[in-house]
Amino acid sequence: MFQDRLIIFDTTLRDGEQSPGATLNADEKVEIARQLARLGVDVIEAGFAYASPGDFEAVERVARTVGTEDGPVVCSLARAIRSDIQAAAEAIRPAARGRIHTFISTSDIHLEHQLRKSRPEVLAIAAEMVAFAKSFVDDVEFSPMDAGRSDPEYLYRVLEAAIDAGATTVNIPDTVGYLTPAEFGGLIRGIAQNVRGIERAVISVHCHNDLGLAVANSLAAIENGARQIECTINGIGERAGNCSLEEIVMALHVRRQFFNPIFGRPADAATPLCAIDTRQIYKSSRLVSHLTGMLVQPNKAIVGANAFAHESGIHQDGVLKNRLTYEILDAETVGVNENRIVLGKHSGRNAFRTRLGELGYELGDADLNRAFLRFKELADKKKTVSDWDIEAVISDEIRLIPE
Ligand code: KIV
Ligand code: ZN
Repeated sequence: MFQDRLIIFDTTLRDGEQSPGATLNADEKVEIARQLARLGVDVIEAGFAYASPGDFEAVERVARTVGTEDGPVVCSLARAIRSDIQAAAEAIRPAARGRIHTFISTSDIHLEHQLRKSRPEVLAIAAEMVAFAKSFVDDVEFSPMDAGRSDPEYLYRVLEAAIDAGATTVNIPDTVGYLTPAEFGGLIRGIAQNVRGIERAVISVHCHNDLGLAVANSLAAIENGARQIECTINGIGERAGNCSLEEIVMALHVRRQFFNPIFGRPADAATPLCAIDTRQIYKSSRLVSHLTGMLVQPNKAIVGANAFAHESGIHQDGVLKNRLTYEILDAETVGVNENRIVLGKHSGRNAFRTRLGELGYELGDADLNRAFLRFKELADKKKTVSDWDIEAVISDEIRLIPE
């Protein structure tokens, strides 16, 4: 299936929530899903409906709240097991456009030690469960788990069976973040060239960051035919996390002259390569960090506190003369308001509320009043109140606004 732009599949609410300690309740998931919709992601993987009643409720509520006709596709994960697929189908039903994402491992190490099944058995299950998912929805995604360590020839046959059974997206996970960009790019090229019927499906990739290569591997995959990227806000996820949404989107944006021809466009084409509203990136990052309790490291690309800070005299001098000397992107492009008003003890409620909005918090009146009083107490003790101070105030005072 030829796609002339990239599909952004956000799995913050599913794989991202699998970060140790990052559990989100249904209210929090709905709040993040609303922001993901504003950000412009194409697909929201809202959870794993069969995993728990809480997860089912969250997927169902996300489907109901943001799964409108012009909103994102809402997806639930499901093992290649009937009960999982049934739960997923039920949870996504309120969405105008729902997707079931079913998976089974294909690497020998998983087949032997985890599934205890033979290659032919797994191939048959994959085909049967994709067909079962297809009996509920048209939009079915199939993932051969641990594809990065699977025998490519076997992988090709499993993907062919999944496509013949109706999979419209085939997602290639580097589940343990093991491959290098050249290897992963080669794997995707092999799939694009050797899987019979691949033109009927979108090739997707799902890269983990165990060696810090998730974004690089995803970019290599795009160069070799992938047209859907699975990623999370702030790169959160199992172990070292997933491909970071903000990094991959901004790499495509800043280097569009390099990527445009890969999508069959002139190098200088101005139309964005994906539907993300980059000005919503910083806000999304702050919201996810706050609700999951996972702090963003200061030197994190794109959304870290230091991402646009210049410390050395030489750099400061250069930037003052011409920003392009040491900056490859404008902070405002990702929604960081550089000319923001400095908050201190003379700041009013309105300035405080505006800054909160920029950081991704929309508080009801009661929460805003409490947070504002705490802010004033703090401002009495400090000359200026930083974003980090505001985050601390919010952590102490905020209660989520119910849907
Ligand atoms: O990492 C992985 O393999 C996954 C699959 C369920 C896609 O998260
Ligand atoms: Zn994963």
